[in-house]
Amino acid sequence: MAHVCPWWFVRSFDNPIRRRFHNPEQMFGTFVRPGMHVLDVGCGAGFNTEGLARLVGPDGRVAAVDLQPRMLEMTKQRLERGGLSARAELIQASTHDLGLGTQRRFGFAVAFWMVHEVPDLERLFEQLRSVLEDGASLLVTEPKLHVSKRSFEASVGAAIHAGFQLRDRPPIALSRSVLLARS
Ligand SMILES: C[S@@+](CC[C@H](N)C(=O)[O-])C[C@H]1O[C@@H](n2cnc3c(N)ncnc32)[C@H](O)[C@@H]1O
Repeated sequence: MAHVCPWWFVRSFDNPIRRRFHNPEQMFGTFVRPGMHVLDVGCGAGFNTEGLARLVGPDGRVAAVDLQPRMLEMTKQRLERGGLSARAELIQASTHDLGLGTQRRFGFAVAFWMVHEVPDLERLFEQLRSVLEDGASLLVTEPKLHVSKRSFEASVGAAIHAGFQLRDRPPIALSRSVLLARS
């Protein structure tokens, strides 16, 4: 079973300094337009969910998915503090099911520092493919500290096998990143 980041550890990297090197508006602004429906998978304490909620604006929506109820609670509180609750939906996942059902569709998704925690990548990418609109982008970002180049490339291979195309390798601090498109 892959190691899952415990809720009490999340503040070690999701802290006030993080915005200096991970600015969600800069990292996602190219892909997210006002009114879009977007997905933050493995949202943790909602660092990226908050930024995405600002980018989609009052007519858009962010689905924030996580395994751990405590992470979803922290995301909820963060959105409340920012006055952004109406723009987001919090979804409880299980290890093998993102909990997104069959009806939801998204124009953009981000899996930020979470893919290495998922035991079945084939299933993860199949589920992501099934909820993304045709041509929609998926940004996968992994922490350099925990994920070797080789392991990252294996994850990219699993995504391509599931029906994604490699579009770009955007530079994101402390990370190995790839922009994929649903083909
Ligand atoms: C290292 S944290 C990153 C959190 C957030 N993306 C960020 O950048 O601040 C990884 C998160 O992925 C979640 N996670 C791990 N496996 C998951 C799965 N199979 N489905 C949904 N969330 C998962 C964990 O609970 C944890 O909150």
